[in-house]
This record gives sequence, C-alpha cells and structure tokens, in this order.
Amino acid sequence: MGITKHPAVYPSRARCCARWIAFICLVSFVSVAARAAEPVLIRFSHVTSEATPKGHGAALFKKLAEERLAGKVRVEIYPRALKFNDDQALLALLFGDIELAAPSFSKFRSFSRKIQVFDLPFLFSDVDAVHRFQKSEAGRGLLDSMLSQGIKGLAYWDNGMRVMSANRPLRTPKDLKRLRFRIEPSAVMQAQYRALGVATVPMPFKQVREALKMGLVKGQENAWSNIYSNGFHDYQRYFTEARHSFLGYMLVTSAEFWAGLPPEIRVELDKIVGEVTEKVNQNAREKAEQDRQRVIDSRKAEVTTLTDTQLEEWRKLLTPIWKQFEHEIGTDIIEQAMSANRSR
Ligand code: LMR
Repeated sequence: MGITKHPAVYPSRARCCARWIAFICLVSFVSVAARAAEPVLIRFSHVTSEATPKGHGAALFKKLAEERLAGKVRVEIYPRALKFNDDQALLALLFGDIELAAPSFSKFRSFSRKIQVFDLPFLFSDVDAVHRFQKSEAGRGLLDSMLSQGIKGLAYWDNGMRVMSANRPLRTPKDLKRLRFRIEPSAVMQAQYRALGVATVPMPFKQVREALKMGLVKGQENAWSNIYSNGFHDYQRYFTEARHSFLGYMLVTSAEFWAGLPPEIRVELDKIVGEVTEKVNQNAREKAEQDRQRVIDSRKAEVTTLTDTQLEEWRKLLTPIWKQFEHEIGTDIIEQAMSANRSR
C-alpha cells in the first residue's frame, strides 16, 4: 500500500527546509565574516637569540605592527631556530609556513649569486660603506633580485663586523694553517679560508656552540652579539678583529604574500619596517661595543685588533678571491660597492 501523504505535510516540510537553508546561509555568512575579520598572521622565523639586533628587530616589529594594526595583524616570532634552521627558512617562506625571515647574506646563494658581494673579504671599509652601498641603485636592486623566485627583500638589517676566533692567537694568516673552521654555507667564505689554509665545515648557526664544545671545529667567525649571546667564548680563547667582513641580513617575505595584503595594511607595514630598520641598525652598533666588552670582561677571552700594517698581509692574500666571484656577482656591482668606500 502506498503511503498517503497528508496535504499539510508538504507545506511544513518546505518550511523546515527553508529554515535549514536560512540557517546554513547564516552560519556560512558568519564564518566568512569572522574569517574576513581574522587578523593577518605573520610568522617571523630566525636563528639568533632574542638579545641580538635581529632578535630586537623582530620584537619591535611585532610590537609596532600589533599596536598600529590592532586586530588586523598578529605576529608570532620563532627565534633561535625554534621553527626553521637557516637552510630551511627561505623554502618555508615559499611554502607559506612563515611570512618573514632575515637570513644573513650568505644564505641567499641558491637564490641570488649577486648577494655574495656582501661577503667578499675586505671589500667594504666599514659599516658606513656597507650602508652607502645598500642605499645605492645596485644595493636597492639586490632587494628585488629574487622576485622572479617569489622572494621579496624588504630591508637590510645590520649585525656587525665579523671577528675570527680559535684556541690559538691569530695574528698573521700563517697562524690559521691547518685549523678547521665552522663557516656559514658560503662559497666566498670557503674560498677565503682555503686561501688561509683552513679546512671548512659549513654548518647551521644553531649547531655551532655544540661543535665548538665538542672540538668538531677549532674556530669560527661571527659578529660580537652572536658570539656573546651563544657563549662561543666559553670554548674559544682568542678573538681577532680583522675587519675583513660584515655580517648583515636581508629581511625577506614571500612576494605573493606581500602583494596579497590589503593595501592599507601593506603601506603601514612598510612604514613599520622602515622605522624598525633604523632601530635595528642603531642597536647593532651599540651591541657590537657592549657584547665585545662583555666577552672581554668574562676574562675567558683575549681580543687582538690588527693594525693597518698587519692587515696588509691579510688583504694581499684574500682580495684576489674577488676575481673568482666576479662572473657570479657582476663587476658593475663590485665596482659600486668599492665606490661606496670612497664616497665619504
Ligand atoms: C651565522 O650563521 O653564523 C649567522 O649568519 C647567524 C645569524 O643569523 O646571525
């Protein structure tokens, strides 16, 4: 027997259906609205301690962004390689796992060979020369040199001049012979130490303290704030200031992420990046002095500052390696960098 449908059933079913549809529409409207109102999440991953210029920069960026774009932007910071190591950060940026990173120049080699210019030994006379170059046309151009690969440079951040260390005094190039140094994954640094007769072990920053402690490497080079905040002076006695190269960073984001930001948020973030950059660079100068003094005060370390005459020998040995990188960096860029030393 067929089911007899009461005539009143249809209108009440229709009413029920309509209520369901209205309910579903409301739920999706509310969730779309909630999503639209959700703050943009910016995850900033880096490898140094919070007590470094980069650590301060990340914290200040978070503070200003969350104050000025309250409810629109949320910033999470992952210092000390808690999320990604140096070698992973740029890929993480491209895969959308983070939105900001500030790797040192040497870490960009597989994306832009031109950025190696910053690591050439004795190319820049001091930090001011590095800044003049960064503001030049060539320097600004390097911020965009990875755009086709999806990486956008937002700013240059400083740390400081690199200092070499070992457990024997390093006064002349001969003193380094047959040592084994940890280096950043940099072809320039590899060439530099090869010229000094040193074996090199490229290694992520996170592993350096342990490698020094275990004696896996006998020396390293880094900026004072990284040396002090990681306690490298617990395992290295002699530090040499040769002023041969500068440790700096490029603050980078994913080009796609940045372009997809609502314009008013992007404009404000650009302004904040500019302000933070000034503070980072000021902090870098102060930290370089303070942390150098702290290492000296620890009485665990001795610092040797090479005179201009002593440096001549180092320069003669190391500047010929520029030639090896000319074809990758471009002579025009190297020349602009050299002219930044002269335009005082
Ligand atoms: C290093 O690898 O030694 C440094 O580049 C780490 C850093 O980010 O300062």
